[in-house]
Amino acid sequence: MPDSPSPHITPAPGITTSVLDLIGNTPMLQVRKFDTGLCNLYLKLENQNPGGSIKDRMALNMVEAAERDGKLKPGGTIIEATAGNTGLSLALIAQQKGYRLILVIPDKMSQEKIFHLRAMGVEVIITPSNVTYDHPDYYQNKARSLAASMAGAFYIDQFNNPANAEAHERTTGPEIWEQMEHKVDAVICGSGSAGTILGLGRFFRARSPDTEIILADPKGSVLGPYVQTGVQPKAGSWLIEGIGKEFVSPNLDLSLISQAIIVDDIESIRTVRELLLKEGVLGGSSTGTLLAAALRYCRQQKTPKRVVTFVCDSGSKYLSKIFNPKWLKDNGIPN
Ligand SMILES: Cc1ncc(COP(=O)(O)O)c(C=O)c1O
Repeated sequence: MPDSPSPHITPAPGITTSVLDLIGNTPMLQVRKFDTGLCNLYLKLENQNPGGSIKDRMALNMVEAAERDGKLKPGGTIIEATAGNTGLSLALIAQQKGYRLILVIPDKMSQEKIFHLRAMGVEVIITPSNVTYDHPDYYQNKARSLAASMAGAFYIDQFNNPANAEAHERTTGPEIWEQMEHKVDAVICGSGSAGTILGLGRFFRARSPDTEIILADPKGSVLGPYVQTGVQPKAGSWLIEGIGKEFVSPNLDLSLISQAIIVDDIESIRTVRELLLKEGVLGGSSTGTLLAAALRYCRQQKTPKRVVTFVCDSGSKYLSKIFNPKWLKDNGIPN
């Protein structure tokens, strides 16, 4: 036995009495084995939140804001439309705080997320993915109408809830700022509900206006083209989960975003698989989009920059998809 512990193992913090206290304060890892040109690239490991994703922060903040506003009473029901990660975060929070949770989820989402939710006792309603956003079965419309029909139910509505972006403005932004010792040239993030990009955009505009906020968007989503041209194209489809949109939400404040980088499914998936092989980090599909965009940005820079992006969730949720040779083949993605 060595007489001193490995220098890689940092001392453990003290005892915590609630899993909710473990949300946030996630580590920052410098990428070492990719070509980052003149830049240094850092990954904020949001997969290390107890619910497994970046969504823990905003889910906790939305629930606690609803409690403070009297919209959620003890023993009440939380309803949400979610592609999965917000649902897992809400499941943890609802369980710890004693709320019933009903989630409405589009059917393209990975089985692992749905198994996980059901194992936590969540009631899951699956809706078709192939309906347009004005259809009553579109997952957000379905969640809204369900909440309106149930007494004591509160529709969290992450897409329009100000406590979503506020969580990132108050926690994610300041953590990045401190971890990076007040030197951040660019932050590259995806957008689903737009909470992360709006919250970080507001934080950095106030604290460090020269920090660029860059959108990484899957090809097929309308957000990237909209940021680039101001015109909203017809939506396509994409395999990456959790980011990209079929329409631009009115709350997306373009003045906070300096540019968009669009990444297709093949490049996203190849990049996240490379991340596992090179750096030993098992990221989810969106991590591939963010990292590919960040690498492209880094390699284009003519001066050294400090760039931050995210591992938003863990690849363990996608083992049957992007890490499964059969699924890759069936979806025309080179292995
Ligand atoms: C899987 C996943 N979910 C959600 C988000 C963030 O989306 P938002 O805060 O816009 O909902 C990201 C961001 O990259 C993501 O990768």
